[in-house]
Amino acid sequence: MARILLIIGGGIAAYKAAELVRHARKAGHEVTPVLTDGAQHFVTPMSLAALAESPVYTSLWDLKDEVEMGHIELSRAADHVLVCPATADLIAKMAAGLATDLATTLLLATDKPVTVAPAMNVKMWEHPATQRNIAQLKADGITVLEPDEGPMACGEFGPGRLPEVEAILAALPLGSVTAAPLAGAEGPLSGKHVLVTAGPTHEPIDPVRVIANKSSGKQGFAIAAAAARAGARVTLIAGPVSLPTPFGVSRIDVMTAVEMHQAVMNALPADVAVMVAAVADWRVEASPTKLKKGSGPPELVFAPNPDILAELGEHPDRPRLLVGFAAETNDVIDNARSKLERKKADWIVANDVSGDVMGGDHNRVQIVSADGVEDLDTATKESIAQSLIDRISETFS
Ligand code: CTP
Repeated sequence: MARILLIIGGGIAAYKAAELVRHARKAGHEVTPVLTDGAQHFVTPMSLAALAESPVYTSLWDLKDEVEMGHIELSRAADHVLVCPATADLIAKMAAGLATDLATTLLLATDKPVTVAPAMNVKMWEHPATQRNIAQLKADGITVLEPDEGPMACGEFGPGRLPEVEAILAALPLGSVTAAPLAGAEGPLSGKHVLVTAGPTHEPIDPVRVIANKSSGKQGFAIAAAAARAGARVTLIAGPVSLPTPFGVSRIDVMTAVEMHQAVMNALPADVAVMVAAVADWRVEASPTKLKKGSGPPELVFAPNPDILAELGEHPDRPRLLVGFAAETNDVIDNARSKLERKKADWIVANDVSGDVMGGDHNRVQIVSADGVEDLDTATKESIAQSLIDRISETFS
């Protein structure tokens, strides 16, 4: 799959890098770990080498490595560079362009996309110096993941926790490694970035069971394909579905709503976002071990999932055109109107799913906007997708 150069900073969250290596390997990715001096106080090169099944690099002055693989080559051999955890110190060095050790030298020498997963104390995260450095990294084209909020190892509470390793991996644009964007397609959406979510989400209950829904992903995939044909750069964030990646589309596979949320935020900015996914409203506190029938019916504890569309509606990088879907079984237009308002979307594409729309090949939709309601005839999902992309193109013409 993809080759990841993993740069591990010296923070308490460094131990989670080991977990990340395990997950990445399981997903079929190659990982080459690089540890800063600080990181070696938290994880050993030996344990990482075993998990990664790869040599681990620590020093710029390791002559043997320079002979076998110079630092320039090392920085470019991967498809993607991930800094995890990124400490305040490492972020500051990156922002300043310092090359004081192997990690920072690689970061300066690489020509590959870089993603940074910060983890630090809440005050350090909120400090104007760190925020200034983060803004600089973003301006330099580096993807910076939002840290999670919650109780911290230091006893304080707030943003600064490393996101879950699954969410970090989901946020890496590794899909683009397998699906190259359509080079130079000319069309009404040339130069525009279109972000599409599709499919269901799966919320794990235990290692073998999930809460799922019947969304097939067909409508969202058809919209991504039509947007690519119209010349857009398309990022398709797909829940667990078994559909081929449309030609010219960069696809990021996710499983849960939390992963989808992180992947969407990571893909911003976008000119258009079409949120077709049937996102689970709730997630469950999953059991780490398989629930046994003998223990009786499980008591599931639910927590709300982030509402991705509603968050985009209020986001500082809100896409110029924000389109939501509303799968309804009753009061279709009323429900769509209230979603339009509640989620601050520009259009809600309402569909009646009381029949066999979910999983089927046809759809009948109504586009609800501030201008009113437009009825589209029942048609194949491909044809509905083309009609929607035609209307989207018109708003940009
Ligand atoms: N959506 C989202 N994130 C969520 C839930 C929904 O982005 N956590 C998006 C969907 O992709 C869709 C729109 O919001 O574009 C409407 O989704 P729907 O499930 O119909 O709405 P809900 O917010 O779940 O409202 P309700 O349960 O009342 O129908």
